[in-house]
Formats: sequence, structure tokens, C-alpha cells
Amino acid sequence: MNNSIQLKPAGFEDRIKAYEWLYYSDFSSYLIELSVETSEGGIPTLSQFKEDYEFFFFDGSRPEKGRAYLIILREPNLKEEIGFITYTAFHLKEGIAEIDIWLKNLEYAGKGYGTEAVKILAHKLFDEKYHTLIIRPCKENLRAVISYKKAGFQVTSFQPDYYKKEYLHQFAEGDCKDGDDLFMVLKK
Ligand SMILES: CC(C)(COP(=O)(O)OP(=O)(O)OC[C@H]1O[C@@H](n2cnc3c(N)ncnc32)[C@H](O)[C@@H]1OP(=O)(O)O)[C@@H](O)C(=O)NCCC(=O)NCCS
Repeated sequence: MNNSIQLKPAGFEDRIKAYEWLYYSDFSSYLIELSVETSEGGIPTLSQFKEDYEFFFFDGSRPEKGRAYLIILREPNLKEEIGFITYTAFHLKEGIAEIDIWLKNLEYAGKGYGTEAVKILAHKLFDEKYHTLIIRPCKENLRAVISYKKAGFQVTSFQPDYYKKEYLHQFAEGDCKDGDDLFMVLKK
């Protein structure tokens, strides 16, 4: 295990950088091309991002709905924030959560850091009340797909029964253009 990666609960002061790392990084144009949201409406504004990543991601007040963390790279004489990872659970049935992750730029990709962050969060959630984790990368995003496979996720068919009925319609399609995502699952 790579002990140099740690997760730190994110606070409201981290929202802008999480937004900028997602939409104004060197991988952003690639992700924007793959995403259904941005291909239809351009880059979301910070206000739209705040609507997606509500207060509870940043103040820990509703852990049953979701939480955000900063990914910290820690080495002798170095402590650096290198990315952002969340779990979201409000739209899924009890015991199931969805993970989302992005590093701050490609300089940090391909070094195992993202995979390690996913493993750490999965471990933490399995220690709590969660038994099933999902993640939905776009098919073309091989770097993400390979990373999640390394973290133990397996590709499966879309599982509508994981979703609360009232949210199924909103979330069924996923975030990728033409519904081109992979439904990946990790069980406890
Ligand atoms: C996705 C992400 C979190 C993965 O974290 P990471 O630290 O880069 O992942 P890893 O380094 O452990 O693994 C990436 C793997 O993809 C491989 N890879 C990278 N680019 C690739 C490409 N174009 N084709 C095939 N494989 C590729 C790497 O070689 C590595 O595999 P290896 O360890 O077997 O060599 C990170 O790359 C990232 O933040 N990317 C930009 C944002 C993003 O795409 N977020 C995910 C949205 S679902």
C-alpha cells in the first residue's frame, strides 16, 4: 500500500479549487468532450457546481447523503493537496454509494495516487454502513477505467435496482455523452 496518500475531509474553502481542478485543468477539455452536461450546455459555472456539490459534501452534516475529501500527497518534507474525491449516496438505496474523483492535473496522474485514494475511501465506507460502491467512468476514459479496475471494481450491466425509485430517471443515463459510460461495482 502506498502510504503517501491520505484523505482529508473537505471544507467550504475547498469548493473553488475543486471546481477549478475539474473544469480548468489540463484534462478538462477531454472530460468536457466526453460529458453529456458540458457537451450540451458549456462549462458549468461555479454556482452550478455548488448546486451539484451541496453543503453536506463540505460540512459533514449529512454523511448518509455524501461527503467530499481532499486527496493529500504526503512525503518527507512535502504535504500537497493533489485532488478531490467524493462519495454520494442520497440517490441510492441504503448501503450503496457512488464515488467520483479527479486529480488536480495530469502531472499527478499515472502514478497510482488516484487508485490509492479510491482504495482508501472504499475501505473507509466498507467500515461504515456501505456494502456496495459504484463508479461510472466514460468508456473512452481508459486512465480512469484502468485505475478503478486496479482498485477492484468490475464492469457490470447497469443496475436500476441500486437506485431509489424517485431518482432512477434522473441518474439512469449517467454523465457521459450518448450514455457511453461503464457501470463499475465493488462489493465489500
Ligand atoms: C482517473 C484518475 C483519478 C486515475 O488516477 P491515477 O492516479 O491517474 O491512476 P493510476 O496511475 O493508478 O492508473 C492509471 C492507469 O491508466 C494507465 N493509462 C494512462 N493513460 C492511458 C491511456 N491513454 N491508455 C491506456 N492506459 C492509460 C496508466 O498506465 C495506469 O495503469 P498502470 O498502473 O497499469 O500503468 C486520474 O487519472 C484523474 O484524475 N484523471 C483526470 C480526471 C478523471 O478522468 N476523473 C475520472 C472521471 S470518472
